[in-house]
Amino acid sequence: MENALEAKTLESALAEYYRLSSDTLDRRISILKSRMADRLLILGHNYQRDEVYKFADYTGDSLRLSQYAAQRSDREYIVFCGVKFMAETADILTTPKQKVILPDLAAGCSMADMADIENVETAWQELTDLLPDSAITPITYINSSADLKAFCGEHGGLVCTSTNAEKIIRWAFERREKILFFPDQHLGRNTCKRMGIPLDKMAMWDPAQPNGGNTPEAIRNARVFLWKGFCSVHQMFQPGHVDYFRKQYPDIRIIVHPECSMEVVDKSDLIGSTEYIIRTVSEAPSGTRWAVGTELNLVNRLKKDNTDKEVFFLSPMVCMCSTMFRIDAQHLLWALERIESGSPVNQIIVPEADRYWAKVALERMLALA
Ligand code: 13P
Ligand code: SF4
Repeated sequence: MENALEAKTLESALAEYYRLSSDTLDRRISILKSRMADRLLILGHNYQRDEVYKFADYTGDSLRLSQYAAQRSDREYIVFCGVKFMAETADILTTPKQKVILPDLAAGCSMADMADIENVETAWQELTDLLPDSAITPITYINSSADLKAFCGEHGGLVCTSTNAEKIIRWAFERREKILFFPDQHLGRNTCKRMGIPLDKMAMWDPAQPNGGNTPEAIRNARVFLWKGFCSVHQMFQPGHVDYFRKQYPDIRIIVHPECSMEVVDKSDLIGSTEYIIRTVSEAPSGTRWAVGTELNLVNRLKKDNTDKEVFFLSPMVCMCSTMFRIDAQHLLWALERIESGSPVNQIIVPEADRYWAKVALERMLALA
């Protein structure tokens, strides 16, 4: 009831912003940005809409943005145009005096929601009951809630991103025999496969089943436990899409994000984070052709910025991250106005209980990155 009332109040507060023209929104955002220049930092993930992306002081992938958040202790407010796990990461890595704002609190990540602390603790218990002490390192993809990062920190593990997953997994194997990787099975499988780990040493962990759906023998045999999570956007790319483009254009280069399935990744030429994809296509020679398997906003921007090349979206379907899409110019303006008026909204505050160990897990990653 209270939530419904809050949502209604928010809706009417925002309604006036939806009556503004895009020119007015742009003008008001620009004015606020310059008036608060010395205390405001806007971060924009590569999947953001152009209407907010253009206002970011820094843009980048999850790793790059977390590094910026950690470095800019001079800015009182960090407005994060991205999704909730990114804003939480920024809050963990900033000083207690800084405030992190997510312009729309509904901007979550459906993959991050596929692992929760209860399920991960159960999995840990089941695994450690069957295995010798200190056999496993927990690794969480940065696309996860703060309590899962804290779990990893507290159990000798750490965080990874799509940029540094291989380095992080290597670090873990130098210390312990096995890893529990969550929540994205695809990033885990694609990275471990590239590192030469055979598929029969990777066990899927289904949190809905006892022992993740594995026999005790399979658990003892596996080196990698892959949580049964995935990104609903990247799972829409299919191997047939790669075949189609190769047939149409034999010289085409296929570049995809490692959240795509192994079948797609295996057929592609290049794999990497959003930052890697942007850099690779942008630096490629004029006249080259590219088919790109990641979120649509990013690919549309790549097309616009690389008119000397041919850039295609790998899927015939619209693969858009609907939660990233929630941050629009209206929400950004509203968030900035509330900061200036001294009554900020949508501050992301990671509970003290999670902050310490989550920071340990993130700092282990940053030290390696
Ligand atoms: P990057 O870290 O590569 O930007 O990826 C984040 C993400 O959520 C991809 O779906
Ligand atoms: Fe999460 Fe997928 Fe959106 Fe990335 S694209 S934020 S993994 S739902």
